[in-house]
Amino acid sequence: MNSLTTTAAYPAVASTDPFRPKWHYTSERNWLNDPNGLVYLNGTYHLFYQHNPLGPDWGNMSWGHATSPDLLHWEEQAVAIPCDAQEAIFSGSAVFDEHNTSGLGTAQNPPLVAVYTSAYSDASPLAGRQAQSLAYSLDEGRTWTKYQGNPVLDRASADFRDPKVFWYDGAAGSYWVMVAVEAVERQVVLYKSGDLKTWEQLSSFGPANATGGVWECPDLFELPVDRDPGDRKWVLIVNINPGGIAGGSAGQYFVGEFDGVEFRSGSTVTEGLQEDGSRMREYGWLDWGRDYYAAVSFSGIADGRRVMIGWMNNWDYAGSTPTGGWRSAMSLPREVTLTRLDGKVVLRQEATDPFEGPGLGSFSLGPQPLAPGTLELPVTAEVARIDVEFEPGPASSIGLIVRAGGTERTLLTYDVAGGMLRLDRRESGHVNFHEAFPSVETVAVPLQEGRLRLRVYLDRCSVEAFAQDGLATITDLVFPAEAGTGLAVFAVGEGAQLLALDVVRS
Ligand code: FRU
Repeated sequence: MNSLTTTAAYPAVASTDPFRPKWHYTSERNWLNDPNGLVYLNGTYHLFYQHNPLGPDWGNMSWGHATSPDLLHWEEQAVAIPCDAQEAIFSGSAVFDEHNTSGLGTAQNPPLVAVYTSAYSDASPLAGRQAQSLAYSLDEGRTWTKYQGNPVLDRASADFRDPKVFWYDGAAGSYWVMVAVEAVERQVVLYKSGDLKTWEQLSSFGPANATGGVWECPDLFELPVDRDPGDRKWVLIVNINPGGIAGGSAGQYFVGEFDGVEFRSGSTVTEGLQEDGSRMREYGWLDWGRDYYAAVSFSGIADGRRVMIGWMNNWDYAGSTPTGGWRSAMSLPREVTLTRLDGKVVLRQEATDPFEGPGLGSFSLGPQPLAPGTLELPVTAEVARIDVEFEPGPASSIGLIVRAGGTERTLLTYDVAGGMLRLDRRESGHVNFHEAFPSVETVAVPLQEGRLRLRVYLDRCSVEAFAQDGLATITDLVFPAEAGTGLAVFAVGEGAQLLALDVVRS
């Protein structure tokens, strides 16, 4: 093992750090990007992640590691797979090889196997290439050994990365499937293997829908529609950067069929690389905000839940965010399910909720007319969950103001005529550290029976908004300079109703 550890040049920032999240994973020090190797094993969730153990900027890419019993309380572990002179350890996945198909463990002690991208440095005979490699752990992820036969899959490509591996068990047989990307070609490539060491190509998918940036970090999984076990679809996740719906990085998804060989999309709107951007809003997006990227799901959760985590940042400005010796947080973990809506199968998302349970301070308002203007609430919210339901009626817009104080605020506005929900962080505080940061995000959200339901999670530097029970989400970072925690609701025009409002703080 290489000797990199997390005791690097940058000291941990004390609790006075105003932006260190309470409920979103950050490494104690230094840089973090994509979640990697998400795997659940023996009661523990493992979160590996792209990490620079030596500084708060991207570089020295290694797999950091954290563990949690509940997806909310994370404990940082030693760096799992450090980079070395020959290779950086780029994104990938991990599986519990229960039947020791790889032979990297024993029948009595089967291995955890990480499948990662070797990004070869100039010192390597494979300089300039990206290929897929294995590392294994025989002690539940504490220590890792690289497989001697690495790489296990090399296409002599400079942009072949981000393998997501899962066990396929269906009509075509039982085997490991890898989805990875040829990033620049905007293609997902699919492979199969019996032992994780030798791989045979099955098929490829793409380019399709959003192609305005490289394709990265794919995922492929099956889910029931509306929890009906007899009605199942496959979801292909493709992260894209830049060219995301809100600018820069974002995740798109396709819903379709996978027969063990090929993925056939039922949600392809445009094909090929000639996309002009005009149909972007017709594609499936995991999130309509600026800060939910490289999202992938856990393997090994046996009860059927499909839980994803995204990197809560955007490559447009990730290197400039105004935090201390740490940089970047993960999103709250989200359970994704499929539902049929107007004949179309779409994703619904629900965050793992830190605000359930007794003993947390709360504030509620019952049904009442919402007069034109702004109603400041007699409660503050910095780390909180806000549930609010509006019936806008004839009003032209209604909304919620969070992190208000001094001249600062972040606005969630619903424009009734346009049916659009908007998150505006242009006056949220520190916004000038990068020209791409001051932004307004929008998503079409039809009212349901005349009503809009919002669930908003606030943490010290983020707003995650879930509309209509998670049918649309907007995730944005905010860095309030004046530490405002004010909360308000508002209406423009007469006749709106506030049906309910609940704030739970921790
Ligand atoms: C996505 C990504 C991956 C790559 C990793 C490198 O954010 O660019 O494609 O493996 O980050 O850190």
